[in-house]
Amino acid sequence: MMTEKAWQRTLVWGTAVFMVLLLGMTVDSLRQINAGRTPPVTEQVAHGKSVFQRKNCNDCHTMFGIGGYFAPDLTKVADSRDAAWLKAFLTNPAAVKPGTTMPNQRLVAADVLDLVAFLDWVRRIDTNGWPPQPLGSLGTTAGRPAPPGAFQAKGCSGCHMIDGRGAGAPGPNLSHIGSTPYDGLANTPEFLARWLADPPAIKPGTLMPKLPLSPAELDSLVRYLVALR
Ligand code: HEC
Ligand code: HEC
Repeated sequence: MMTEKAWQRTLVWGTAVFMVLLLGMTVDSLRQINAGRTPPVTEQVAHGKSVFQRKNCNDCHTMFGIGGYFAPDLTKVADSRDAAWLKAFLTNPAAVKPGTTMPNQRLVAADVLDLVAFLDWVRRIDTNGWPPQPLGSLGTTAGRPAPPGAFQAKGCSGCHMIDGRGAGAPGPNLSHIGSTPYDGLANTPEFLARWLADPPAIKPGTLMPKLPLSPAELDSLVRYLVALR
């Protein structure tokens, strides 16, 4: 038989050992979470963030869901665009993407480099899979038509959503464009081909830009769109 004193000792020591273990485990998992979530902030990253704010990039773009819905979300843009592309695009958008709707932000070279560092830092923050991957990079929803390469390459998913992937704005959701025409525009193959070739020629003032498309790209896109029922 244990004496009352012995019981007390066992209880106190048992509890103390357990608390130390628990504390150790908590500290360790917090350390792991922080290591995964937040890469170190360098001076360049901090400066890039202030350029982002000073230039009001958030007026048009979202980051972590905050900002304007006019332009693509930038949280993970550095996953799909490398530093050289971003540097060239931010210096002069139209030189990289003819017909782009992003105005030249008139950035000095140092600000461009700091922004690229900031975008790379943001990319490395573990957002638990958010935002959803754009269409094409995750394959296709089962039983649905597969997007042609041009859909991803021409940035269509930067403005349109299909089957829950891509951006919800400013373009309409195209999940059923083959069976449900959009807002006064036709959805026949002939009309869609004319639309994609030059949207502003059909609807002056539309936010959808005229994108450079080869005849083969145009054809693959039209066939894809009419199959979206
Ligand atoms: C007036 C609105 C507007 C402002 C302000 C603006 N952008 Fe944009 N940006 C756009 C639009 C629209 C696009 C998509 C254009 C396209 O794909 O042709 C875009 C595209 C981009 C892209 C390329 C996305 C991709 O993968 O194709 C990057 C990077 C970007 N913007 C960064 C910035 C940064 C950084 C700033 C601030 C210095 C900024 N933008 C300010 C409208 C804007
Ligand atoms: C910068 C944003 C933007 C990009 C990039 C863009 N669109 Fe659009 N798109 C729009 C907007 C906005 C509309 C709605 C037209 C309107 O009412 O002005 C639209 C409309 C459409 C429509 C409806 C036309 C109809 O006849 O029903 C289709 C289809 C379409 N886009 C396909 C595409 C494809 C394919 C691409 C890539 C090659 C693309 N879009 C790229 C913004 C965009």
